[in-house]
Amino acid sequence: MKHKTILLCGGTGLIGNRLKSFLNNAGYRVTILSRQSNLENVPDHFFWDPTRDFINPDAILNANVIINLAGTSIADRRWNAKRKQDIMQSRARSNELIYKKLTELKVKPDVFISASAIGYYGNRGDELVTEESPPGTGFLAETAQPWELSARKIESLGVRTTILRIGIVFSMLGGALPKMIQPIQMMLGAPLGSGDQYMSWIHIDDVCSLFIKALTDRKWSGVYNAVSPHPVTNKELTEVLARLLDKPLFLPNIPEFAIRTLMGEMATLILDGTRVSSHKAEKSGFKFQFPDLEGALRDLLDTGKQSNSESAQQSVADR
Ligand SMILES: NC(=O)c1ccc[n+]([C@@H]2O[C@H](COP(=O)([O-])OP(=O)(O)OC[C@H]3O[C@@H](n4cnc5c(N)ncnc54)[C@H](OP(=O)(O)O)[C@@H]3O)[C@@H](O)[C@H]2O)c1
Repeated sequence: MKHKTILLCGGTGLIGNRLKSFLNNAGYRVTILSRQSNLENVPDHFFWDPTRDFINPDAILNANVIINLAGTSIADRRWNAKRKQDIMQSRARSNELIYKKLTELKVKPDVFISASAIGYYGNRGDELVTEESPPGTGFLAETAQPWELSARKIESLGVRTTILRIGIVFSMLGGALPKMIQPIQMMLGAPLGSGDQYMSWIHIDDVCSLFIKALTDRKWSGVYNAVSPHPVTNKELTEVLARLLDKPLFLPNIPEFAIRTLMGEMATLILDGTRVSSHKAEKSGFKFQFPDLEGALRDLLDTGKQSNSESAQQSVADR
Protein backbone atom coordinates (compact mmCIF):
# COMPACT_ATOMS: atom_id res chain seq x y z
CA MET A 1 0.00 0.00 0.00
CA LYS A 2 1.30 3.46 -0.87
CA HIS A 3 1.69 6.04 1.85
CA LYS A 4 -0.12 9.21 1.19
CA THR A 5 1.95 12.15 2.33
CA ILE A 6 5.72 12.21 2.51
CA LEU A 7 7.39 15.06 4.42
CA LEU A 8 10.81 15.92 3.00
CA CYS A 9 12.82 17.80 5.64
CA GLY A 10 15.61 19.68 3.86
CA GLY A 11 13.80 18.81 0.63
CA THR A 12 14.90 21.92 -1.27
CA GLY A 13 18.41 20.65 -2.06
CA LEU A 14 20.03 18.40 -4.65
CA ILE A 15 18.57 15.08 -3.53
CA GLY A 16 15.30 16.54 -2.26
CA ASN A 17 14.38 18.15 -5.57
CA ARG A 18 14.93 14.97 -7.53
CA LEU A 19 13.32 12.77 -4.90
CA LYS A 20 10.23 14.99 -4.90
CA SER A 21 9.64 14.32 -8.60
CA PHE A 22 10.26 10.59 -8.13
CA LEU A 23 7.72 10.50 -5.31
CA ASN A 24 5.17 12.59 -7.21
CA ASN A 25 5.55 10.31 -10.23
CA ALA A 26 4.96 7.33 -7.97
CA GLY A 27 1.68 8.87 -6.79
CA TYR A 28 2.67 10.30 -3.40
CA ARG A 29 1.85 13.74 -2.12
CA VAL A 30 5.04 15.50 -1.04
CA THR A 31 5.35 18.26 1.52
CA ILE A 32 8.56 20.18 2.18
CA LEU A 33 10.00 21.39 5.47
CA SER A 34 12.39 24.29 4.92
CA ARG A 35 14.11 27.07 6.86
CA GLN A 36 13.32 29.48 4.04
CA SER A 37 10.54 31.71 5.35
CA ASN A 38 9.74 32.96 1.83
CA LEU A 39 8.51 29.45 0.96
CA GLU A 40 5.98 29.42 3.80
CA ASN A 41 3.15 30.62 1.57
CA VAL A 42 3.92 28.16 -1.20
CA PRO A 43 1.44 25.26 -1.09
CA ASP A 44 2.71 22.14 0.67
CA HIS A 45 5.70 23.98 2.19
CA PHE A 46 6.17 24.30 5.95
CA PHE A 47 8.67 26.32 7.98
CA TRP A 48 11.07 25.09 10.63
CA ASP A 49 14.10 26.49 12.35
CA PRO A 50 16.03 23.77 14.14
CA THR A 51 18.33 26.37 15.77
CA ARG A 52 15.27 27.78 17.59
CA ASP A 53 13.61 24.42 18.15
CA PHE A 54 10.72 25.53 15.96
CA ILE A 55 8.74 23.35 13.60
CA ASN A 56 5.28 23.97 12.17
CA PRO A 57 3.24 21.16 13.80
CA ASP A 58 1.04 20.79 10.69
CA ALA A 59 4.05 19.45 8.82
CA ILE A 60 4.32 16.55 11.24
CA LEU A 61 0.59 16.03 11.79
CA ASN A 62 -0.06 15.59 8.06
CA ALA A 63 2.86 13.26 7.32
CA ASN A 64 2.59 9.50 6.89
CA VAL A 65 6.30 9.24 6.21
CA ILE A 66 9.16 11.55 7.22
CA ILE A 67 12.42 11.72 5.28
CA ASN A 68 15.17 13.92 6.72
CA LEU A 69 17.78 15.26 4.29
CA ALA A 70 18.60 18.45 6.21
CA GLY A 71 22.09 19.61 7.03
CA THR A 72 24.60 22.38 6.38
CA SER A 73 26.47 21.66 3.14
CA ILE A 74 29.75 19.83 3.65
CA ALA A 75 31.54 20.97 0.51
CA ASP A 76 30.34 24.51 -0.19
CA ARG A 77 32.71 26.44 2.05
CA ARG A 78 36.12 25.93 3.62
CA TRP A 79 35.93 24.32 7.04
CA ASN A 80 36.70 26.37 10.12
CA ALA A 81 35.66 25.65 13.70
CA LYS A 82 32.28 27.39 13.27
CA ARG A 83 31.52 25.69 9.95
CA LYS A 84 32.42 22.28 11.36
CA GLN A 85 30.16 22.85 14.32
CA ASP A 86 27.29 23.79 11.95
CA ILE A 87 27.87 20.75 9.76
CA MET A 88 27.81 18.45 12.75
CA GLN A 89 25.04 20.05 14.82
CA SER A 90 22.60 20.81 12.00
CA ARG A 91 22.18 17.11 11.25
CA ALA A 92 21.67 15.67 14.75
CA ARG A 93 19.66 18.73 15.83
CA SER A 94 17.12 18.38 13.03
CA ASN A 95 16.49 14.69 13.82
CA GLU A 96 16.24 15.55 17.51
CA LEU A 97 13.68 18.25 16.80
CA ILE A 98 11.58 15.80 14.76
CA TYR A 99 11.81 13.31 17.65
CA LYS A 100 10.76 15.97 20.16
CA LYS A 101 7.79 17.06 18.05
CA LEU A 102 6.59 13.49 17.46
CA THR A 103 6.71 12.90 21.21
CA GLU A 104 4.90 16.16 22.03
CA LEU A 105 2.19 15.65 19.42
CA LYS A 106 1.90 11.94 20.27
CA VAL A 107 1.95 10.89 16.61
CA LYS A 108 3.99 8.27 14.82
CA PRO A 109 4.74 8.20 11.10
CA ASP A 110 4.68 4.79 9.41
CA VAL A 111 8.30 5.18 8.37
CA PHE A 112 11.21 7.50 9.12
CA ILE A 113 14.22 7.68 6.82
CA SER A 114 17.32 9.68 7.65
CA ALA A 115 20.20 10.52 5.36
CA SER A 116 23.67 9.69 6.61
CA ALA A 117 26.93 9.50 4.70
CA ILE A 118 29.72 7.05 3.94
CA GLY A 119 31.97 9.52 5.75
CA TYR A 120 30.92 7.30 8.69
CA TYR A 121 33.63 4.83 7.61
CA GLY A 122 36.49 7.35 7.41
CA ASN A 123 39.58 6.80 5.25
CA ARG A 124 39.79 3.02 4.68
CA GLY A 125 42.24 2.39 1.80
CA ASP A 126 41.02 -0.52 -0.32
CA GLU A 127 39.17 -2.35 2.48
CA LEU A 128 35.60 -3.16 1.34
CA VAL A 129 33.40 -1.78 4.12
CA THR A 130 29.88 -3.00 4.87
CA GLU A 131 27.12 -1.74 7.15
CA GLU A 132 28.65 -3.96 9.86
CA SER A 133 32.08 -2.31 9.67
CA PRO A 134 33.03 -0.13 12.65
CA PRO A 135 33.08 3.64 12.22
CA GLY A 136 36.28 5.32 11.12
CA THR A 137 38.05 8.34 12.51
CA GLY A 138 38.14 11.99 11.49
CA PHE A 139 35.62 14.80 11.28
CA LEU A 140 33.19 13.14 8.84
CA ALA A 141 33.04 9.95 10.90
CA GLU A 142 32.56 12.06 14.03
CA THR A 143 29.68 13.85 12.28
CA ALA A 144 27.93 10.71 11.04
CA GLN A 145 27.84 8.92 14.40
CA PRO A 146 25.70 11.38 16.40
CA TRP A 147 23.64 11.96 13.23
CA GLU A 148 22.75 8.26 13.10
CA LEU A 149 22.20 8.07 16.87
CA SER A 150 19.71 10.93 16.62
CA ALA A 151 17.79 8.96 13.94
CA ARG A 152 17.75 5.97 16.28
CA LYS A 153 15.85 8.07 18.83
CA ILE A 154 12.92 8.17 16.40
CA GLU A 155 13.25 4.40 15.98
CA SER A 156 12.96 4.11 19.77
CA LEU A 157 9.39 5.47 19.46
CA GLY A 158 8.48 2.29 17.59
CA VAL A 159 8.75 3.85 14.12
CA ARG A 160 10.28 1.73 11.35
CA THR A 161 13.50 3.63 10.69
CA THR A 162 16.04 3.35 7.90
CA ILE A 163 19.34 5.20 7.70
CA LEU A 164 20.91 5.54 4.25
CA ARG A 165 24.69 6.00 4.26
CA ILE A 166 24.92 7.90 1.01
CA GLY A 167 28.00 7.89 -1.23
CA ILE A 168 29.13 10.65 -3.61
CA VAL A 169 25.97 11.55 -5.51
CA PHE A 170 26.47 12.15 -9.22
CA SER A 171 24.16 14.71 -10.81
CA MET A 172 24.72 17.46 -13.35
CA LEU A 173 22.77 19.89 -11.19
CA GLY A 174 25.18 20.10 -8.26
CA GLY A 175 27.39 18.16 -5.88
CA ALA A 176 30.76 16.69 -6.83
CA LEU A 177 30.38 15.86 -10.54
CA PRO A 178 30.25 19.36 -12.10
CA LYS A 179 33.32 20.27 -9.99
CA MET A 180 35.19 17.28 -11.43
CA ILE A 181 34.11 17.97 -14.99
CA GLN A 182 35.18 21.63 -15.02
CA PRO A 183 38.99 21.21 -14.89
CA ILE A 184 38.86 18.33 -17.38
CA GLN A 185 36.93 20.49 -19.82
CA MET A 186 39.57 23.21 -19.38
CA MET A 187 42.29 20.61 -20.18
CA LEU A 188 43.47 20.89 -16.55
CA GLY A 189 42.23 17.50 -15.40
CA ALA A 190 44.49 15.19 -13.41
CA PRO A 191 44.11 12.56 -10.70
CA LEU A 192 44.18 13.99 -7.19
CA GLY A 193 46.94 12.97 -4.79
CA SER A 194 47.94 9.35 -5.36
CA GLY A 195 44.76 8.83 -7.40
CA ASP A 196 44.43 5.44 -5.68
CA GLN A 197 41.75 6.56 -3.20
CA TYR A 198 38.40 4.81 -3.70
CA MET A 199 35.35 6.88 -4.53
CA SER A 200 32.03 5.22 -3.76
CA TRP A 201 29.67 7.06 -6.07
CA ILE A 202 25.98 6.72 -6.95
CA HIS A 203 23.77 8.14 -9.71
CA ILE A 204 21.17 10.53 -8.28
CA ASP A 205 18.29 8.47 -9.70
CA ASP A 206 19.52 5.36 -7.88
CA VAL A 207 19.69 7.31 -4.60
CA CYS A 208 16.08 8.38 -5.10
CA SER A 209 15.05 4.81 -5.89
CA LEU A 210 16.79 3.63 -2.71
CA PHE A 211 14.75 6.12 -0.67
CA ILE A 212 11.61 4.71 -2.30
CA LYS A 213 12.74 1.16 -1.57
CA ALA A 214 13.31 2.13 2.08
CA LEU A 215 9.83 3.62 2.15
CA THR A 216 7.96 0.76 0.47
CA ASP A 217 9.79 -2.36 1.64
CA ARG A 218 8.57 -3.10 5.15
CA LYS A 219 11.55 -5.37 5.72
CA TRP A 220 13.91 -2.43 5.47
CA SER A 221 15.03 -1.04 8.79
CA GLY A 222 18.42 -0.07 10.15
CA VAL A 223 21.40 1.02 8.08
CA TYR A 224 21.87 0.56 4.31
CA ASN A 225 24.71 1.83 2.17
CA ALA A 226 23.51 3.95 -0.75
CA VAL A 227 26.38 3.46 -3.20
CA SER A 228 26.67 1.86 -6.63
CA PRO A 229 28.02 -1.70 -6.78
CA HIS A 230 31.24 -0.53 -8.47
CA PRO A 231 33.32 2.00 -6.55
CA VAL A 232 36.31 3.26 -8.56
CA THR A 233 39.60 4.95 -7.75
CA ASN A 234 39.99 8.67 -8.31
CA LYS A 235 42.38 7.90 -11.18
CA GLU A 236 39.87 5.59 -12.92
CA LEU A 237 37.12 8.14 -12.51
CA THR A 238 39.26 10.96 -13.91
CA GLU A 239 40.25 8.81 -16.89
CA VAL A 240 36.70 7.69 -17.71
CA LEU A 241 35.39 11.26 -17.42
CA ALA A 242 38.16 12.60 -19.69
CA ARG A 243 37.45 9.90 -22.29
CA LEU A 244 33.71 10.57 -22.27
CA LEU A 245 34.32 14.31 -22.52
CA ASP A 246 36.84 13.66 -25.29
CA LYS A 247 39.57 15.64 -23.53
CA PRO A 248 43.21 14.66 -23.07
CA LEU A 249 44.79 14.07 -19.65
CA PHE A 250 48.43 15.06 -19.80
CA LEU A 251 49.13 16.69 -16.44
CA PRO A 252 50.79 14.74 -13.62
CA ASN A 253 48.74 13.96 -10.50
CA ILE A 254 48.02 17.05 -8.38
CA PRO A 255 50.25 16.55 -5.32
CA GLU A 256 48.57 15.93 -1.99
CA PHE A 257 50.39 18.79 -0.24
CA ALA A 258 49.07 21.29 -2.82
CA ILE A 259 45.48 20.11 -2.28
CA ARG A 260 45.91 20.29 1.50
CA THR A 261 47.37 23.79 1.26
CA LEU A 262 44.47 24.94 -0.90
CA MET A 263 41.61 23.22 0.92
CA GLY A 264 42.87 22.75 4.48
CA GLU A 265 41.16 19.97 6.43
CA MET A 266 38.40 19.81 3.81
CA ALA A 267 40.91 18.09 1.50
CA THR A 268 39.82 14.93 3.27
CA LEU A 269 36.73 15.00 1.00
CA ILE A 270 38.83 14.21 -2.06
CA LEU A 271 42.00 12.63 -0.68
CA ASP A 272 40.46 10.05 1.64
CA GLY A 273 39.20 6.84 0.09
CA THR A 274 36.32 4.57 1.06
CA ARG A 275 35.33 1.45 -0.84
CA VAL A 276 31.77 0.75 0.22
CA SER A 277 29.69 -2.36 -0.46
CA SER A 278 26.16 -2.19 -1.88
CA HIS A 279 25.58 -5.89 -1.23
CA LYS A 280 22.98 -5.48 1.53
CA ALA A 281 20.65 -3.38 -0.65
CA GLU A 282 21.08 -5.72 -3.63
CA LYS A 283 20.51 -8.81 -1.52
CA SER A 284 17.19 -7.37 -0.40
CA GLY A 285 16.05 -7.07 -4.02
CA PHE A 286 17.14 -3.57 -5.02
CA LYS A 287 18.20 -3.26 -8.67
CA PHE A 288 20.46 -0.40 -9.69
CA GLN A 289 19.52 1.42 -12.86
CA PHE A 290 23.12 2.66 -13.19
CA PRO A 291 25.45 0.07 -11.62
CA ASP A 292 28.51 0.94 -13.76
CA LEU A 293 30.42 4.20 -13.82
CA GLU A 294 30.52 4.58 -17.59
CA GLY A 295 26.76 4.01 -18.02
CA ALA A 296 25.96 6.43 -15.20
CA LEU A 297 28.23 9.15 -16.55
CA ARG A 298 27.02 8.67 -20.12
CA ASP A 299 23.44 9.11 -18.94
CA LEU A 300 24.27 12.27 -17.02
CA LEU A 301 26.52 13.78 -19.69
CA ASP A 302 24.30 12.85 -22.64
CA THR A 303 21.21 14.41 -21.24
CA GLY A 304 23.17 17.27 -19.68
CA LYS A 305 20.70 17.13 -16.87
CA GLN A 306 19.07 14.56 -14.69
CA SER A 307 17.03 11.98 -16.61
CA ASN A 308 13.62 13.22 -17.63
CA SER A 309 10.54 12.57 -15.60
CA GLU A 310 9.41 9.65 -17.78
CA SER A 311 12.58 7.79 -16.94
CA ALA A 312 12.07 8.58 -13.26
CA GLN A 313 8.55 7.25 -13.50
CA GLN A 314 9.73 4.15 -15.31
CA SER A 315 12.45 3.39 -12.78
CA VAL A 316 9.97 3.65 -9.93
CA ALA A 317 7.51 1.42 -11.75
CA ASP A 318 10.28 -1.14 -12.29
CA ARG A 319 10.92 -1.51 -8.56
N1 LIG B 1 24.90 15.04 -2.26
C1 LIG B 1 25.80 14.13 -1.84
O1 LIG B 1 26.76 13.76 -2.55
C2 LIG B 1 25.62 13.51 -0.47
C3 LIG B 1 26.49 12.47 -0.10
C4 LIG B 1 26.35 11.90 1.17
C5 LIG B 1 25.37 12.36 2.04
N2 LIG B 1 24.55 13.38 1.63
C6 LIG B 1 23.58 13.87 2.63
O2 LIG B 1 22.26 13.81 2.12
C7 LIG B 1 21.51 14.95 2.58
C8 LIG B 1 20.91 15.66 1.37
O3 LIG B 1 21.98 15.96 0.47
P1 LIG B 1 21.84 17.11 -0.63
O4 LIG B 1 22.97 16.92 -1.56
O5 LIG B 1 20.45 17.18 -1.13
O6 LIG B 1 22.14 18.39 0.29
P2 LIG B 1 21.81 19.93 -0.03
O7 LIG B 1 21.61 20.13 -1.49
O8 LIG B 1 22.87 20.72 0.65
O9 LIG B 1 20.40 20.14 0.68
C9 LIG B 1 20.25 20.02 2.07
C10 LIG B 1 19.10 20.88 2.54
O10 LIG B 1 19.24 21.02 3.96
C11 LIG B 1 18.74 22.26 4.37
N3 LIG B 1 19.70 22.86 5.30
C12 LIG B 1 20.89 23.46 5.03
N4 LIG B 1 21.48 23.86 6.17
C13 LIG B 1 20.64 23.50 7.19
C14 LIG B 1 20.66 23.68 8.59
N5 LIG B 1 21.67 24.30 9.19
N6 LIG B 1 19.63 23.19 9.32
C15 LIG B 1 18.58 22.56 8.72
N7 LIG B 1 18.50 22.41 7.39
C16 LIG B 1 19.51 22.87 6.64
C17 LIG B 1 18.57 23.13 3.14
O11 LIG B 1 17.17 23.39 2.97
P3 LIG B 1 16.47 24.79 3.38
O12 LIG B 1 17.46 25.87 3.08
O13 LIG B 1 15.27 24.83 2.50
O14 LIG B 1 16.14 24.68 4.84
C18 LIG B 1 19.10 22.29 2.00
O15 LIG B 1 18.29 22.39 0.84
C19 LIG B 1 22.48 15.84 3.36
O16 LIG B 1 22.30 15.60 4.73
C20 LIG B 1 23.85 15.35 2.91
O17 LIG B 1 24.84 15.47 3.92
C21 LIG B 1 24.64 13.96 0.41
